[in-house]
Amino acid sequence: MNMSGFYKSLCFLLGFFSVQTQAEKEVNVATWGTADQSTLYGNYWYAQYALDGLSYTCTHTEWQTDPWWRLDLMKTYSVNRVTITNRPDCCESRINGAEIRIGNVSSNVYSNPVCAVVSTIPAGATYSYSCHGMEGRYVFVSIPETSMVLTLCEVGVYVIFPGNLATGRNVTQSSTFGSWITEQAIDFNPGFTQPSSACFSTDSQTNPWWRVDLSYIYRVSSVVITNRLDCCPERINGAEIRIGNSLENNGNNNPICTVISSIPAGVSSTYICNDMEGRYVNLIIPGDSRFLTLCEVEVYGEGPLLKRTFLKMKLKSSWSLSDPAVRVQLLSQLQSVLVERGFSDVTLQWTQPPEQEVMRKEAAPAKCAVRKRR
Ligand SMILES: *[C@@H]1O[C@H](CO)[C@@H](O)[C@H](O)[C@H]1NC(C)=O
Ligand SMILES: *[C@@H]1O[C@H](CO)[C@@H](O)[C@H](O)[C@H]1NC(C)=O
Repeated sequence: MNMSGFYKSLCFLLGFFSVQTQAEKEVNVATWGTADQSTLYGNYWYAQYALDGLSYTCTHTEWQTDPWWRLDLMKTYSVNRVTITNRPDCCESRINGAEIRIGNVSSNVYSNPVCAVVSTIPAGATYSYSCHGMEGRYVFVSIPETSMVLTLCEVGVYVIFPGNLATGRNVTQSSTFGSWITEQAIDFNPGFTQPSSACFSTDSQTNPWWRVDLSYIYRVSSVVITNRLDCCPERINGAEIRIGNSLENNGNNNPICTVISSIPAGVSSTYICNDMEGRYVNLIIPGDSRFLTLCEVEVYGEGPLLKRTFLKMKLKSSWSLSDPAVRVQLLSQLQSVLVERGFSDVTLQWTQPPEQEVMRKEAAPAKCAVRKRR
């Protein structure tokens, strides 16, 4: 049947599937801390060489009793696992019997609980040891014996960060100061050792702002802000946290959750937002010659929210919608158009077969139910 020139009203179901409900990310936090060791062998087997990402530069103590290597993460983490990379070139059995300890006592290795004991690691290999969320600021590797050497080529410390809605989302800021890029607000790194590669900053400007697009609407319970440790903590004073769905004025007209009075250097402050609904979370400092600079923004809440919307749609087509194959093909074409426009997690279905009578009516569009499952 040739339906050329007819306008057809379609009813279809829009469903959002495969939406991450709980963002969970495992991150190696080892390089965010500083390392030292009980003694230094020779001139260049530094403790930091276990954190440089190069498996052929290694740490090395002298021959001694109870040699140790210590990592100060600068704050307490719940450690999921620790990895150790052994020397590739020689003496691989020296690592045998090494203990991995996690705790808060920097001055005494043995006051910290043991996560695991290394039995053996082949030359150049990396082995992983589960620590099941042991909490501590320090990670020690030590060998509790006399006349031993401790050599480590890489150490990884993996932490799981659950539930942060900002994880992996699109972030934007009004301007960027040097290398202090906007993504560094959501990298989990509090920037205690290298702020310029872990924190973000705008230039000095009027009303500087930062925004995360959560991609979907969430009910935001709280926002956690980590201020800089290295300098100028007062720059955050007066910053507003705004949450909503509008991009008017770059999202800075959305309702206010709170105005930050101050946050001490290096501290993470939690702001309760009482389940404000929104897709965008903004920070803005009203005023002239202001910098917006900080190290971490975390967003917690529930969602994505289920939304029911009604949509009317007219389609100009020569296809016969009485043919089931055509209906399937039409939906798949609509789907591709949505994907091209960035809606990759939408699934379309017919809620009811289109009726020919409805199609022939010129100005009597059928009601179309659109359900966005978010
Ligand atoms: C280290 O300190 C944190 C927070 O103060 C605490 O929760 C954790 O249990 C401590 N770890 C150990 C091994 O005592
Ligand atoms: C991220 O946001 C920017 C600015 O709003 C936009 O141009 C870009 O397309 C977005 N990217 C993604 C992957 O959504």
